[in-house]
Amino acid sequence: MGSSERKTRKILVTSALPYANGPLHLGHIAGAYLPADIYVRYQRLKGRDVIYICGSDEHGVPITVSADQEGISPQEVVDRYHRMNKEAFESLGISFDHYSRTSLPVHHETAQSFFTALFQKGDLKVKESEQFYSPRSRRFLPDRYVEGICPHCRYDKARGDQCDHCGKWLEPADLINPRSKMDGEIPELRKTVHWYLPMGQFADSWKKWFESRQWKDNVRNYCRGWYEEGLGDRPITRDLHWGVPVPLDDEKARGKVLYVWFDAPIGYISATREWADKVGDSDRWKSYWKDPETFLVHFIGKDNIVFHAILFPMILMEVGGYILPEAIPANEYLTIEGRKISTSQNYAIWLKDYLEKFPADPLRYTLAANAPETKDTDFSWSQFQSRNNDELADILGNFVNRSLTFTHRFFKGRVPEPGKLDEVDQAMLKAIQETRDDLGACFEQFEVRRGTKTLMDLCRKANKYFNDKAPWETRKTRPETCAATLYVCLQVSRALSVLMSPVLPGAAEKLLRVLGGEKPLSWDEAGTELLRPGSRLRKPEILFQKIDDEVIQREIESLAAIAGQDRENKKNR
Ligand code: MF3
Ligand code: ZN
Repeated sequence: MGSSERKTRKILVTSALPYANGPLHLGHIAGAYLPADIYVRYQRLKGRDVIYICGSDEHGVPITVSADQEGISPQEVVDRYHRMNKEAFESLGISFDHYSRTSLPVHHETAQSFFTALFQKGDLKVKESEQFYSPRSRRFLPDRYVEGICPHCRYDKARGDQCDHCGKWLEPADLINPRSKMDGEIPELRKTVHWYLPMGQFADSWKKWFESRQWKDNVRNYCRGWYEEGLGDRPITRDLHWGVPVPLDDEKARGKVLYVWFDAPIGYISATREWADKVGDSDRWKSYWKDPETFLVHFIGKDNIVFHAILFPMILMEVGGYILPEAIPANEYLTIEGRKISTSQNYAIWLKDYLEKFPADPLRYTLAANAPETKDTDFSWSQFQSRNNDELADILGNFVNRSLTFTHRFFKGRVPEPGKLDEVDQAMLKAIQETRDDLGACFEQFEVRRGTKTLMDLCRKANKYFNDKAPWETRKTRPETCAATLYVCLQVSRALSVLMSPVLPGAAEKLLRVLGGEKPLSWDEAGTELLRPGSRLRKPEILFQKIDDEVIQREIESLAAIAGQDRENKKNR
């Protein structure tokens, strides 16, 4: 899809609906939320018609397992984490147009209408199968209630529905040595009836569509793998009491709910409906979901690829009348200090904890600069510190600060009249425009890493310009040259308040205030004369506070303690 084509189109951006069964950690943010937020903020600056939709995924076994483990009801679990996660996203500056939740009636109705549509088309098969059952608690144990050894890759924590290690879909009976995750009980297999989506029947039309799109390598490779393995019948109902009830007036459907991976992606649509109600134009969701002019983008982590690239598009295609995703920027994983994140072992950096101690921007910057776009990447506290101190503070912050301080000291806090600009000045101004265009292209192509570097390179260039021009000397010898230099530096600073705002919205806002700039900002204006000579500047504020070694050391130690504990536990087992 050429970027010029996108100009006129509407853009609908989604990030994977996080399960409301626990707090968010940095792995979530780096994968599905920060890259999307950067993209959306950029598109808004371009003046495009874009909406950013997300919400809590409140169904499925992840929720009921958490409820069982904490001894509270599923509703209490989702209420607690929905609120917590929504707040944490806000504090990080993730700028959803709407953050919904799948337990709402609008979602139940929407998800049920999709099931009903497939059912009425005669697409669904009813089949009897064997599912795990707990004799002790007298209920079925679907999906991740049961763990065992994967028959394909031998991973020992494969679940009843899927192996997280090799990504293969499983049937309960495939698992070797199954054990209930709740209490280690050996489950029985018991017969039950479910509704199946015959994915094999839709495979050809899906394939045609899939091949016509440009996908990232990871998306393409995963999907080819699944396709080649054969897309068979997949059950889209479960024996659970928590979820969207199967909308059939049939004794067999009693006590069954829709499979969470059937209902959750439909949550993007329900959330858009809710957004439309919120903005007072309840049909407006259709102008996104039902208009082929809309460019639909799903930001996800790689474990969600199959559902967004195969299952959901198949459902949309078969039900008909909906647009399909054009881009699925699926990210790889983030490790922390060289280790895999493990929520069950508490080996993670929780977003909420982070935000209690540090501002949002340095984290956004570090994760963007190091985004796991094509391979897993590592977050380390020392890298975080050097990104903050050596790049944000010493390069970006320093440039802006010295420009502003100089203007206050020697030009009474007003943008100087530039007089004649020499070649070096012109080149610096031109660099703003080049950066604007390069950076725009990076964001357009979901290349946040490269974009972040491009942004910092402009700041490096600007510092060099300041040094080379030595305004502290020309002030005395050639005052006009000095004025031109500061004029240019202030234009760069003002442009930075636009160009940095997708990645660093907090600092950008501060900077804009100091420069007396007005909103709304426009991307294309960066690199034009945004500050008129004579306009007054406010006193500079520190954009990025340096972070001390002791503070970083404490964080490193607390993670090391958790990792150490885990090693102990393994030894003693
Ligand atoms: N809750 C899922 C997860 O965290 C993601 C759901 S994405 C959606 O892995 F498309 F289903 F909503
Ligand atoms: Zn496996």
